[in-house]
Amino acid sequence: MLIKISDDALARALGADELAEAFAAKGHEVHRTSSWGMQWLEPLVEIDGKGFGPATLGDVDAILNGSSDKAIGVIEQHPFIAGQTRFTFARAGKTRPTSLADYHATGGWQGLMRARQIGPEQIIAEVLESGLRGRGGAGFPTGIKWKTVAGAVADQKYIVCNADEGDSATFADRMVMEGDPFQLIEGMAIAGEAVGATRGYIYVRSEYPDAIRKLNEALVQCADIIAPFVCEVRMGAGAYVCGEETSLLNSLEGKRGEVRAKPPLPALEGLFGKPTVVNNVLSLAAVPHILAEGGSAAYAQQGMGRSKGTMPIQLAGNIKHGGLYEVAFGVTLGELVNVIGGGTASGRPVKAVQVGGPLGAYLHPDQFDIVFDYEAYTAADALIGHGGITVFDDTADMGSMARFAMEFCAAESCGKCTPCRIGSTRGVELIDRIRAGGRKRDVIELAPQMQNTVKDQGRSVAEEVALLTDLCETMKFGSLCALGGFTPYPVMSALKHWPEDFAPEARAVLE
Ligand code: NAI
Ligand code: SF4
Repeated sequence: MLIKISDDALARALGADELAEAFAAKGHEVHRTSSWGMQWLEPLVEIDGKGFGPATLGDVDAILNGSSDKAIGVIEQHPFIAGQTRFTFARAGKTRPTSLADYHATGGWQGLMRARQIGPEQIIAEVLESGLRGRGGAGFPTGIKWKTVAGAVADQKYIVCNADEGDSATFADRMVMEGDPFQLIEGMAIAGEAVGATRGYIYVRSEYPDAIRKLNEALVQCADIIAPFVCEVRMGAGAYVCGEETSLLNSLEGKRGEVRAKPPLPALEGLFGKPTVVNNVLSLAAVPHILAEGGSAAYAQQGMGRSKGTMPIQLAGNIKHGGLYEVAFGVTLGELVNVIGGGTASGRPVKAVQVGGPLGAYLHPDQFDIVFDYEAYTAADALIGHGGITVFDDTADMGSMARFAMEFCAAESCGKCTPCRIGSTRGVELIDRIRAGGRKRDVIELAPQMQNTVKDQGRSVAEEVALLTDLCETMKFGSLCALGGFTPYPVMSALKHWPEDFAPEARAVLE
């Protein structure tokens, strides 16, 4: 019997390797495939298209003799899968990640072959027509970025894939790299064709050893197919700010991961000062589908407004059905959290949802009608970022989450600009003082050198809130990059919606 079990890192962490060995020991053929993305069901065992999960070693016999109570029916008909529009994740759950034969058999390399036939101008025209925007978070049109690099005159150009996926609740890049590495490589080779670049680098965070291993295996296998394009994997060293493109380029060059001022744009002066396409994994992985026959029009038909195509949304945190959900733009937050995600895992009411990673705003259930769309989120002082959604139930303390945002910024700041480097530390202190009730400072533990200052300048909660607001404005408009510039989103949204989590009198202050 053919048994399919994912070799995705999440499934492996939950016992997929042991399970695969147990089925193999009973004489069955086991294929290690990519994950379907239904994480609450991992390890998921698939036999003849039917699923069993989450499976343990104790379930093996029952699964084989048809008496398992872990049966979920036909996987493709499961509502979580059937409701999706999968372009980037079309192979998820279906193919063996580093099998070149599986990739070929499922339409692999068609985009690259066609790209070579139609040439750079037409490739860029089709990427523009698809409406694809940068999936790393900023949503900049990919075709325009490619056009800028294509138009630059230089002896060497580069394609850099940003795989430093650092946002909380995000794992889509990891799933692409672990589950469909050839697709990402094909996307990079197409980008190379479009802009005239012969070298590519995939900058992967060190926390993704499986992705690094599989990408390297895949690159060896397809070297001849992508030639003359040459691609290599580089490992990051764990700094969140190296997900920012200029900091990433510095790190790739062997320098300290510090943000560079823009302009010049990396598109004109990027890696080693040469014109460089820096795109996120999801942007590049969407390209082979777009370039395959008729793909760009099909892609553009999905979505809404200027947000075209699909977004691989990642559901995480305190959620019943966590996982990867690729869907056209336009889905509401309430649908994602309550219907698709099934509400909280704890069964308690949802209190807050953070969208877009640690720098994303906290959204209140009153805002659940907001649709997944770059412009709609911007209008709500929020961001969709890389599509990560973290759910919190009513036990969450949003004052401490706001403090965490400032603390995170202070820890991860590259130190280049003052609003972020100093502002984040002052922000932590301000939130502490608000939470301690303003003037009632005797209850806070402060460093001895601060205590005199505090006695002299005791401020009310209202004054501290005004200062925090002012600080957030300064960080938002005065920081050099998104780390300092976006930290105010979680802080101010938490203060706006849950002021009583900061101090009992804070709501009255805000009203
Ligand atoms: P940005 O708006 O400055 O730039 C977006 C991209 O467009 C950059 O690659 C930039 O070089 C390029 N660009 C801008 N104008 C161009 C032009 N005229 N021609 C060619 N290229 C041009 O945004 P930034 O600072 O690169 O990214 C901020 C975003 O990163 C945020 O929205 C945030 O959501 C996201 N982010 C993502 C993380 C992740 O783990 N994926 C982590 C942290 C933040
Ligand atoms: Fe560095 Fe922070 Fe300034 Fe970004 S905002 S350049 S991380 S100090």
